[in-house]
Amino acid sequence: RFATLEPQPKDPIFALVDLYQKDENPNKINISVGAYRDENGKPYVLPVVKKAKQILLNDPNANHEYNPMTGVDSFCHNAAKVILGKDSPAIAEERVATIQTVAGTGALKIACEFLKQTKNTPIYISNPTWANHKAIIENTDLEWKEYSYWNQENRNLNIEGLLEDLNNAPDNSTILLHACAHNPTGTDPTREQWKRICEVIKKKNHFTFFDCAYQGFASGDLDNDAWAIRYFIEQGLELIVCQSFSKNMGLYSERAGYIHIVIKPSENASVIAKNVRSHLGGITRAILSNAPNFAVRVVDIILSDPELYKEWNENMKVMSGRIQKMRKMARDKFVELKTPGTWDHIQQQIGMFSYTGLTVKQVECLIEKFSIYMTKNGRMSVAGLNEKNVEYFVKSVDWVVRN
Ligand code: LMR
Repeated sequence: RFATLEPQPKDPIFALVDLYQKDENPNKINISVGAYRDENGKPYVLPVVKKAKQILLNDPNANHEYNPMTGVDSFCHNAAKVILGKDSPAIAEERVATIQTVAGTGALKIACEFLKQTKNTPIYISNPTWANHKAIIENTDLEWKEYSYWNQENRNLNIEGLLEDLNNAPDNSTILLHACAHNPTGTDPTREQWKRICEVIKKKNHFTFFDCAYQGFASGDLDNDAWAIRYFIEQGLELIVCQSFSKNMGLYSERAGYIHIVIKPSENASVIAKNVRSHLGGITRAILSNAPNFAVRVVDIILSDPELYKEWNENMKVMSGRIQKMRKMARDKFVELKTPGTWDHIQQQIGMFSYTGLTVKQVECLIEKFSIYMTKNGRMSVAGLNEKNVEYFVKSVDWVVRN
């Protein structure tokens, strides 16, 4: 019955992690997957997460009962405050439908199912975007189309192309936007540019679908990084936000996330939000029954204690600060070596990634000759660099660029 199946194409990100693990070169570097590494290149368990796990362990009431299909109400409420703001009028007016999900990917999948059932129009994604966006959309039997995002020549945002494409999309299209720390380019719109994007979306009656996987990594500040989302809501737009705690709490494998669907203000907005939430719960039930609970309990312990919340923000600053330091060290080293080309973008880009501008051939050479694993589109996860390997990385890139 299954004899005709061919193997699936390799995942452009996780296949590299596999290759890296098998590589015996002592100088190997993994800058493929977007996962934070400490200054020794080791996975980082946030100190605040360690504390929260201990609190959970000592909780005599903790158990492993089923959750409601939509998740625990108080957890949903606390998570909404992180992304929409603690004084968000949308939360106060009870016009936000929030459910727990299996981290960011799970949120995107349930959101796509919801859009398929309610809207069923193509989803516009940035060119380029995170590879899994296309896979999730296709897997839901929805269509994706692209809008311009990247100006390869100047290594910056192609804002005019982006606006033109959103303008030319049929009215009432769905537009998937990265809320901050765009993956893979590390390049976000400025606030002025966000305002222009919002204006077109409003004019065209498009529907906004925010993916927010890196809150805290763009600027080191949670509120700053949620600015675009909050601005769009302020403008009266209805939208979806997919929220992940994988990166900003370092809970990658534990799968903590949420969907928030914000309903525009109206007399019956809170009733609509309730119905939307129940719909999201129904979709969840049919796909996975209910979302896992361990990680969101850890997240919620942190979110509900002011001291731990503060410590979380400090831990995040450690991560984003070290990434920024690595950006500067790499850029300075390129300048010192007089590597052909310009390298300022490595320092200017934000979040976890840098879109280096290296070609597929150059990346293949980095992998084969130097055991430096980065995605074929030239994206590097800057978090994989540290003071011990940055020189080897820059020298290797220098060699590849010159040869
Ligand atoms: C990445 O882009 O590397 C991360 O978001 C990990 C993933 O799931 O692809």
